[in-house]
Amino acid sequence: MYSYSAHSGYTRYPSLQDRSVFITGGATGIGAALVEAFAAQGAKVAFVDIDEPGAQALCEELMAKGYVRPWFKVCDVSDISALQRSIVEAQQAQGDIQVLINNAANDQRFDTQSVTEADWHRGLAVNLHPVFFAAQAVQPMMAAQGGGSIINISSINVQFGPPRLASYITAKAGILGISKALATDYGPDNIRVNSILPGWVATPKQLEKWLSEDEEKELMKRVCLKKRLGAHDVANLALFLAADDSAMITSQEFIVDGGRI
Ligand SMILES: NC(=O)c1ccc[n+]([C@@H]2O[C@H](COP(=O)([O-])OP(=O)(O)OC[C@H]3O[C@@H](n4cnc5c(N)ncnc54)[C@H](O)[C@@H]3O)[C@@H](O)[C@H]2O)c1
Repeated sequence: MYSYSAHSGYTRYPSLQDRSVFITGGATGIGAALVEAFAAQGAKVAFVDIDEPGAQALCEELMAKGYVRPWFKVCDVSDISALQRSIVEAQQAQGDIQVLINNAANDQRFDTQSVTEADWHRGLAVNLHPVFFAAQAVQPMMAAQGGGSIINISSINVQFGPPRLASYITAKAGILGISKALATDYGPDNIRVNSILPGWVATPKQLEKWLSEDEEKELMKRVCLKKRLGAHDVANLALFLAADDSAMITSQEFIVDGGRI
């Protein structure tokens, strides 16, 4: 779990108060930090995830901290019609969505030569296609409100191409394309679309599965800032991109990785 409120010196964005926010993959990891960060700003947060126990634990934790319980629904984002339904239900519960964060992903690794056609399609179905269809679903709500902010979570991996992640990296590169295209198409409705490319974030899952002590030592040689990147570092940028403070920023890609050497 993340203790966003531990970083209480962070900025308060009055424009995020009561703003209706929809986050995919909000139960754990960076998504949970996003949920907490927006809840701490007084936003009305809705999120979907496949991890129901994780989501319920997060909701309980946030309520114990005095925040309003976020709206949550179990939803596999690769089921596009379920995702579209969830967005409409969140709208009915919390009002027109004004901020969308496409965060859900699965960074499953595969031996490249044994990737089947089904593996390939499954990867894009989780990591790429929902980004477009969630944006398409919130566009009329944002247009009706006079604008909105869509934030798509890509990855620094698109610049380095680490091994055994071909489908994931392809999806994350595709997200940059979707963001550019939608920034153009939705701009006349004052809807901003930006991408965030996190570096290696020390989430509990990454620490458990991939970010070993040795890996972290190697990582520290390749970054300017010799500190762990936290999920809250990504959430802090998302807050800025969602708030009116970034009103003229769209069609951009933002790297949060401690500075790659
Ligand atoms: N952690 C990192 O180092 C890192 C680096 C670069 C980019 N990112 C990106 O940041 C985002 C969050 O990463 P994370 O490390 O917190 O990931 P994570 O795997 O820890 O969490 C992702 C969340 O999405 C949920 N999810 C997975 N598949 C889903 C599905 N089909 N439908 C609905 N929910 C689903 C998971 O249950 C989980 O709660 C992802 O887009 C990821 O690609 C992460």
